Amino acid sequence: MATVLIYYGTSEGQTAKIARHIGASLAERGLEVELVESPAVPPLPLDAYRAVLVGDSIHVGNYHRPVMKFIAAHQETLAKRPNGFFSVCLAAASKKPEEQAKAKAFVDEMMTQTQWHPDRVAVFAGGIAYSKYGLLKTWLMKRIAKSDMGDVDTSRDYEYTDWDSVEAFANGFCEDLLRRAA
Ligand SMILES: Cc1cc2nc3c(=O)[nH]c(=O)nc-3n(C[C@H](O)[C@H](O)[C@H](O)COP(=O)(O)O)c2cc1C
Repeated sequence: MATVLIYYGTSEGQTAKIARHIGASLAERGLEVELVESPAVPPLPLDAYRAVLVGDSIHVGNYHRPVMKFIAAHQETLAKRPNGFFSVCLAAASKKPEEQAKAKAFVDEMMTQTQWHPDRVAVFAGGIAYSKYGLLKTWLMKRIAKSDMGDVDTSRDYEYTDWDSVEAFANGFCEDLLRRAA
């Protein structure tokens, strides 16, 4: 059975954690899964994979450039097999409608930039990883947190990811795959 590729970009590790969770979920359902963290290159050509999920996080309004390049370079191959995209950002953790709209707009922008229109899309709230930031990022993120979720204790990290939503995304993708294979 061919493998499902989960290709992802991450800076502080939250998208990696989500990718691992999705991978474990698919593996539990009997699928073979390969996780590849950008900018590493998948060991097989993309058309050797049964299905591909791509995940990435937002920093200063942008996804990681190598992930965007990967998508743009492979969008035709991606479209020929079951595929999906999951986006991770802080805006998705906000209760403000304008921030929620921003979280969705990041994905629309990705589609415009890369010309890839994934079969499935999910937007997940990420976290604030104060323990992994230097002074400047701590200042920036504390300022954002102060004006929104209020989590300004820099002696700890905050995670806003809704793991039930992650699980639902993984299950939906898996059911699609198994239905197509039946
Ligand atoms: C320097 C920096 C800039 C960020 N900029 C944004 C942003 O513009 N919009 C947003 O919604 N989240 C932003 N975030 C939040 C990240 O998307 C969030 O922390 C996410 O969990 C990071 O995922 P990763 O650990 O996989 O990279 C930013 C985080 C950092 C550290």
